[in-house]
Amino acid sequence: MKITDHIYLVASGKWGFGITNEIDCNVFLIDTGDGCVLIDSGTGMEPERMDAVIESHGFSVKDIKAVILTHYHGDHACGAARIQKLSGCEIYAPELEAEAIETGDERATSVAGAKGGLYPSDFSYPKADHVAGVRDGEIITVGNLALKAYLCPGHSLQDMVVFGQIDGKNCLFSGDFVFAHGQVLIQSLYDVTLFPYAEAMRRIAKLPVEAIFPGHGVFCLENGISFVQAAVDKFNTGLLPQQLYYFT
Ligand SMILES: [Fe+2]
Repeated sequence: MKITDHIYLVASGKWGFGITNEIDCNVFLIDTGDGCVLIDSGTGMEPERMDAVIESHGFSVKDIKAVILTHYHGDHACGAARIQKLSGCEIYAPELEAEAIETGDERATSVAGAKGGLYPSDFSYPKADHVAGVRDGEIITVGNLALKAYLCPGHSLQDMVVFGQIDGKNCLFSGDFVFAHGQVLIQSLYDVTLFPYAEAMRRIAKLPVEAIFPGHGVFCLENGISFVQAAVDKFNTGLLPQQLYYFT
C-alpha cells in the first residue's frame, strides 16, 4: 500500500490492514533513493506475502539496506533475520535489546511464554547474523534518509521510536509505543515499566510530529502529535492511557 511518495505499508496483520500474516505488525518500507529501509519486519511467517507486496511496488527484498526494529517482540522482529540473509542489510535495534534479537533469545523477548498462544507452538525466534545496538539520540542514515532514534522504555525493556522528515513531513515511526488516539499496549511482561513509559511519552510529545506510523492499527498523516499528547494527558492524571482497542 503506497502511503506517500516514498513510504509504503508492506506488511500488516489482523491488528491492522490484513495484507500479510495475521500476526504481523505494520511494516513500513521507505524508499531512500539509494535502497530501502524497513521499519520493523513482521513475524517472518508466510514471508512470501510480504515479499509479494514489496515486489508489487517495484522493489525487491534485496533492495533493503537496513531494517530498523522498534523492539524485540516477535511480531516486529522475527522477520529480520531472513531479510538480512537475503539482502545483507544491517539490522538496527535498541541497544539493550540487540543481543536478544541476534541470539534469538526467546525468554528475553517474551516469545517463550507466548508459544501455543499468540505464536504457533512450533514457532522459533530466528538468530540474526548481526544486530547493531542503537543508542538514544543516534541518527540512522541510509541514502537521503536520516532518522533520529529515541529510546522509550515502557512497552518493552528499551522500546524505540524513530523520527525524521520524509516527503516534506515530520514523521514518527512509533512501533508499539503509542497508537491512534493515544492508545498504548501494556502487557503483563517482566520488562514493562510504567513510570519510565510516562516520562518517555512526555519527552516525545515535545517533537513536532506531523505523520505518525504506529506498529498496529491505523497511521495518520496529519496532527500525529495529538496521539502522543492524548497519552500524555492520561498519564498526567496518574492513570494509564487506554489499551489498544484490539486487545480490550
Ligand atoms: Fe510489542
